Amino acid sequence: MLIPNTSPTFLPWEDTDPAPSWSEVFGNDNPLALEIGCGVGDFIVQMADLHPGINFIALDFYNKGCIKTCKRIDKVGLSNVRVLRAEARSFIEACIPPASLQMTVINCPDPWPKLRHRKRRLVNAGFVSYLSRFLQSEADFYFATDFVDYGLDVAEFMAVQPGFVNQLAPDTFRHILEDYPVSKYMKRFLEMGQPIYYVHYRAAQAGSVSEESR
Ligand SMILES: C[S@@+](CC[C@H](N)C(=O)[O-])C[C@H]1O[C@@H](n2cnc3c(N)ncnc32)[C@H](O)[C@@H]1O
Repeated sequence: MLIPNTSPTFLPWEDTDPAPSWSEVFGNDNPLALEIGCGVGDFIVQMADLHPGINFIALDFYNKGCIKTCKRIDKVGLSNVRVLRAEARSFIEACIPPASLQMTVINCPDPWPKLRHRKRRLVNAGFVSYLSRFLQSEADFYFATDFVDYGLDVAEFMAVQPGFVNQLAPDTFRHILEDYPVSKYMKRFLEMGQPIYYVHYRAAQAGSVSEESR
């Protein structure tokens, strides 16, 4: 049985529930951002504090992680974050209106290091192509990983992904990203001396890429 999450920051949502009205949930029409796999919330509590004018949805299917994330947010008193326990793809499909996200963040997603498990990785060209339907023009897409092979793979396919502009050019990835908070997993790997692979793209301006290629 799941431990109940009673935090006011937690937004209970099941796959069969209707999509929330985000302006009602947040009480304003500020731009929306999504963190997929927020873990225990180290990153989102810093990011939401840095960007008070953005409404952040922090998503994870790990219940205890959602509870810890909510506790962190409630302790600081941030009103621009809601935490949901859901699977990313079902949630996006059901709850995110097309062209509505101003930012998407994916930090240290499960790396599935065994070759035969690679297809289980969340982030690949197909997923980013799907996600692009939910991004506003000029929306930020951030990806970070401690896993070399995953970082290089995302850097490589993003460089040819239609509809995105590299924000780190001429590099396709970097090991340092200014003004980007460190998550629990990033911290753990940095302390072990392992670099983080950061990728940062922006969705092309509306009209600059044909709808077919998106
Ligand atoms: C390795 S942890 C990283 C947590 C955090 N982003 C960090 O950097 O510290 C990956 C997290 O993503 C969550 N996750 C993985 N796949 C997911 C999916 N499809 N939908 C929602 N959450 C997912 C896991 O439950 C886990 O908490």
